[in-house]
Amino acid sequence: MNKMFTTFAGISLVLVTAVVAELPPYIKPCSRSSPDFKKCCVNHGNEALPALLKGDNRLKLPSMTPLTFPKVEVNAGPNLKLSFNDANFYGLETIQLLDMDVDFGQQTMEVKLKSDRISVIGQYDVDGKIMVLPLTGKGPENITIINTDFVYKMTYTTTVKNGKAYVKPAKDDLKWKIAKAYFQLDNLFNGNVQMGDNVNKFLNDNDQDVLKELGGAVTEVIRIIARTVADALFSSTPLDEIFLA
Ligand SMILES: *[C@@H]1O[C@H](CO)[C@@H](O)[C@H](O)[C@H]1NC(C)=O
Repeated sequence: MNKMFTTFAGISLVLVTAVVAELPPYIKPCSRSSPDFKKCCVNHGNEALPALLKGDNRLKLPSMTPLTFPKVEVNAGPNLKLSFNDANFYGLETIQLLDMDVDFGQQTMEVKLKSDRISVIGQYDVDGKIMVLPLTGKGPENITIINTDFVYKMTYTTTVKNGKAYVKPAKDDLKWKIAKAYFQLDNLFNGNVQMGDNVNKFLNDNDQDVLKELGGAVTEVIRIIARTVADALFSSTPLDEIFLA
């Protein structure tokens, strides 16, 4: 399988560095030495998620309900050219934190997340093949993923500013499993309704195979969000004030 690259353009979501002196009030710290540390992270994380997704000027986080990308280019290999315009990601507020693991020695974090339903609504432009199926056209689209499990892993380094250690996210990675996906590509093949209906049916009947080629384009946005929130949060507040002794 080809390694897929996805480019999200036109949003200032990536790598902003906010300078605020303290944690936003909706983020409550957790104590590393507490036997309930993990549980505390999950609970406080879930309490903070709605506010983070609504956006926070102080952390320079835009509103993500919905999150809109003017252009998304999917490079799924030489056989498929696919892009989206005005791609609106709805349903990010259905994301929940299931588990969180921080290894302060190895400097790694692992977060397990789950979403009920995320819909990407916008305009598509496609030319090429998915599996064996020729696919050309442009028009309105709706790609909806139901019950998705995510595992987000990040390594970090620390930097010291004014005598205090800050987490600096380094490599990250997102794995995902989507229980069911629905595809609706309107106006395929220049509006040939019968061919378009057949192809949409094929995509929906073979959703797991289609996701192998396209799923990453949808889930990449979750990695970008996780990374952006991590960058914003950890650059703004010293490690010891997020994770108390
Ligand atoms: C998108 O598709 C899903 C699944 O078929 C459907 O439930 C939802 O209503 C659709 N959304 C829009 C805006 O058409």
